Amino acid sequence: MKTTGGTETQKRRAGESAAEQVRDGTVVGLGTGSTAAHAIRAIGRQVDAGLDVRGVPTSFAARELARECGIPLLDLDEAVGPDAPGIDLAIDGADQVAFAAAASGDGGAGGGEPDAPALIKGGGAAHAREKLVDAAADRLLIVADPSKTAETLDRSVPIEVLPAARTTVAAAVRAAGGEPELRAAERKDGPVVTDNGNLVLDCEFGEIAAPDDLATTLSRTPGVVDHGLFVGLADEVHVGTDEGVDVRRYVRD
Ligand code: A5P
Repeated sequence: MKTTGGTETQKRRAGESAAEQVRDGTVVGLGTGSTAAHAIRAIGRQVDAGLDVRGVPTSFAARELARECGIPLLDLDEAVGPDAPGIDLAIDGADQVAFAAAASGDGGAGGGEPDAPALIKGGGAAHAREKLVDAAADRLLIVADPSKTAETLDRSVPIEVLPAARTTVAAAVRAAGGEPELRAAERKDGPVVTDNGNLVLDCEFGEIAAPDDLATTLSRTPGVVDHGLFVGLADEVHVGTDEGVDVRRYVRD
């Protein structure tokens, strides 16, 4: 499922650029994937240098890496809710970022900041917990390389489903114009099983002209734990390039 077309230098630049925004005394959501991993390593170096920060991991893999990097961790339950510190900032990767949607926002032509771009996430099957942490954060910074950017979303949309709902959700996806495929594990016979014990359907919809509408349809389908469409959540996108970092800022819905 993973198609990571960018270079490590591009990913590192994006991750390190976002990590520069982590401030002393804050709580940070730690995203999943090879680009967010660069941000986690950069935050780890800042912790070594004396930064007081606590991380909320979005997956088993993010937790393991953060522990290796010496970042103190909180569970989501400890970070949000009454008397909890909240999550100041989350840094996460994406499989695709559609900038055209952003350009059509109020601020696009008339000045100010455009609306947040739509994203596809879940190439690492972590999107359900990623969405929990990213949506709970005051600000979400997306880190990506140029191979992830597009005018319109057209990659397959990962959908985490309860195992018992695999067939009914697949039927609902077909009814919505998509073609679902159960994600297979690479070094195990059978399907990918998520950190939450569920399955993933990768669903081809072609060009997704109205991601918000599709997101609503998928969210209403019984048995869907969560889907990889992230609409209106990102505050900034940091795209690492061969020359530097392109940072775009948005108005979050
Ligand atoms: C994890 O499920 C995903 O949402 C990742 O954040 C996404 O696949 C980006 O990963 P890379 O930075 O490795 O491309």
